[in-house]
Amino acid sequence: MRKPFISANWKMNKTIEETGEFINSFLPMVKDVTDVDILIAPPVTSLQAAASLLKATNVKLGAQNVFYEEKGAFTGEISPGMLLSAGCSYVIIGHSERRQYFMETDEIVNKKIKTARKNGLEVILCIGESLKEREENKTFEVLERQLTGSLKDISLEGITIAYEPIWAIGTGKTATKEQANEAHAHIREWLNKNRKGADKTRILYGGSVTPENIKSLMAEPEVDGALVGGASLKPDSFAGIVKGARK
Ligand code: 13P
Repeated sequence: MRKPFISANWKMNKTIEETGEFINSFLPMVKDVTDVDILIAPPVTSLQAAASLLKATNVKLGAQNVFYEEKGAFTGEISPGMLLSAGCSYVIIGHSERRQYFMETDEIVNKKIKTARKNGLEVILCIGESLKEREENKTFEVLERQLTGSLKDISLEGITIAYEPIWAIGTGKTATKEQANEAHAHIREWLNKNRKGADKTRILYGGSVTPENIKSLMAEPEVDGALVGGASLKPDSFAGIVKGARK
């Protein structure tokens, strides 16, 4: 069985002070949770402070993005080595907001995953269709295209997939548990057909996950966890999601 995995993606929210306040109130709420893997991905400015508070706890630290070169003249970019030295063990790559606002293509995502894995970071790869693509019945085609491009020449070791339908992100419109399971099953089928070890790969759902809907999503066989935006910003609501994810 795959261990449930709940990750917070704070996006561009929280200062260093706010990060500390969150972690100090969140940790006691989840200190006894051993049956769910927990990850927080704050903005890069908060990583080091978060790392020192999370040391020797059951909560791991991740970043929301990384560059595909290891060092050099790339003003404003952050390398995998820098994330490791700030205390990260994970990085989220290919989020739809990065694809939409920062023109990240599957080819760029592929390069980022390769450099992150080479340096020992675990990766959460985000994929998902737009509303238009869903309405045109292109969901599976889009997922396959993203998987093919993003995972080119990459094994599944150290990779988690997050299925985030763009129309469900920040909209309050969650995919139904059946829609989520169907997409996850299709992703797993592709992984099984094209890579070794797909049974062990966790597939998270992302898009308007709340403490209220997490249980029914997790009851689906192919949903192994969640990548949470808005509802991860408050300690009690994120703790509620973590506890609701116990299978
Ligand atoms: P929301 O939970 O705010 O819909 O965001 C989902 C998401 O994009 C997580 O990466």
